[in-house]
Amino acid sequence: MPTPTAPERIEVRASSRHSTIIVGEGTLDGLATWLDEAGAGRRRFIVSNPKVWGLHGAQIQRALGDAPVILVPDGERYKTVRTTEKIYDALIRGGADRGSALVAVGGGVVGDMAGFAAASFLRGITLAHVPTTLLAQVDSSIGGKVGVNHALGKNLIGAFHQPAVVVIDPLVLGTLPRREFRSGLFEVVKYGMISSRPLFDRLVSHTRALFRRDPAVLLPAIAESARIKAEVVSADERESGLRRILNFGHTVGHAFESVTHYRRFRHGEAIGYGMLLAADLGVVRGVLPEADRAALARLIAKLGTLPPVADLSITEIIEAVRRDKKVVNSRLHFVLCTSIGTTAVVDDVTEDELKAALVRLGLRS
Ligand SMILES: NC(=O)c1ccc[n+]([C@@H]2O[C@H](COP(=O)([O-])OP(=O)(O)OC[C@H]3O[C@@H](n4cnc5c(N)ncnc54)[C@H](O)[C@@H]3O)[C@@H](O)[C@H]2O)c1
Ligand SMILES: [Zn+2]
Repeated sequence: MPTPTAPERIEVRASSRHSTIIVGEGTLDGLATWLDEAGAGRRRFIVSNPKVWGLHGAQIQRALGDAPVILVPDGERYKTVRTTEKIYDALIRGGADRGSALVAVGGGVVGDMAGFAAASFLRGITLAHVPTTLLAQVDSSIGGKVGVNHALGKNLIGAFHQPAVVVIDPLVLGTLPRREFRSGLFEVVKYGMISSRPLFDRLVSHTRALFRRDPAVLLPAIAESARIKAEVVSADERESGLRRILNFGHTVGHAFESVTHYRRFRHGEAIGYGMLLAADLGVVRGVLPEADRAALARLIAKLGTLPPVADLSITEIIEAVRRDKKVVNSRLHFVLCTSIGTTAVVDDVTEDELKAALVRLGLRS
């Protein structure tokens, strides 16, 4: 086994609590140390799902000894209050108290739900994240948003609960299906677009190595993404201003996911379209150079084919955007890029502008 280099530490200085992100190859083997350092409970309860636990449970167990494991079913449709109750049951039966910690091992679904359980159990116990998808490593495990879905909408029930520590080991991504991996890559593209031209350029020049999950390329991309998110969250934990830039590509992306009932797109794929549309809008408004839009379009094409969108209803998409509450007096809050690596938030995008951009993206008018 190669000797892992010393992990990087990234600090999230949120107003509610401080958290530390540990990123490096092989960091999972030192999990007990990272949890101890962060004060993450003497008594630990692990939450995972059967798939992730089957693949990586043995390694976690070697690191954490006999911590009880609570398995929840795999899949977004189980990210519910009902499943969370099963976590509470297991915590109560296992004798968890205010000094216990919950360790979420899995993708964003496990992290959001276990995080919500930790936020609410006994009015809040310590949380640690061990994210095992690329999306969870660069996005959902950082920033303290936790929650579950309701039958009437996604993430309607939730809280802010910062993890004490997030332990990111890119080696766990070796077992991640290619489509899931690529879904996470779109979020990395987003970080490049909103904040780092060098990151964007590295994604362009090392696409193949990324898909091979070559740690020499993957690890720095994850670490830079985590640093960007940590910095934004430290400045604006509750999304009153700066944190909104993380929504680049998400207004339309969420609408695409919603009108297809979360079945057609992986989250990142929908965000891929959302970013293309936002870039197009930027060019039409004269705030983004056409060369930058074209570079984004080339990178997204290089990442592979996206599910089709031509059949989606523009009317339904506009309705979904409206429901997303980002519309005030039929004017829309929108994150635009002003170049690769810089953004501007505007609040005057009209529905007509959006419709025209959707048509240019290939939807039928
Ligand atoms: N809290 C936040 O700030 C935030 C941000 C973005 C997304 N989210 C949430 O994250 C969720 C999506 O997360 P996701 O994309 O990680 O999906 P996911 O958690 O459903 O994981 C995708 C699939 O990969 C499997 N998996 C996980 N790790 C694996 C591994 N190492 N090897 C093989 N398979 C593995 C999972 O079991 C699942 O089947 C959504 O519910 C979304 O709302 C939250
Ligand atoms: Zn996202």
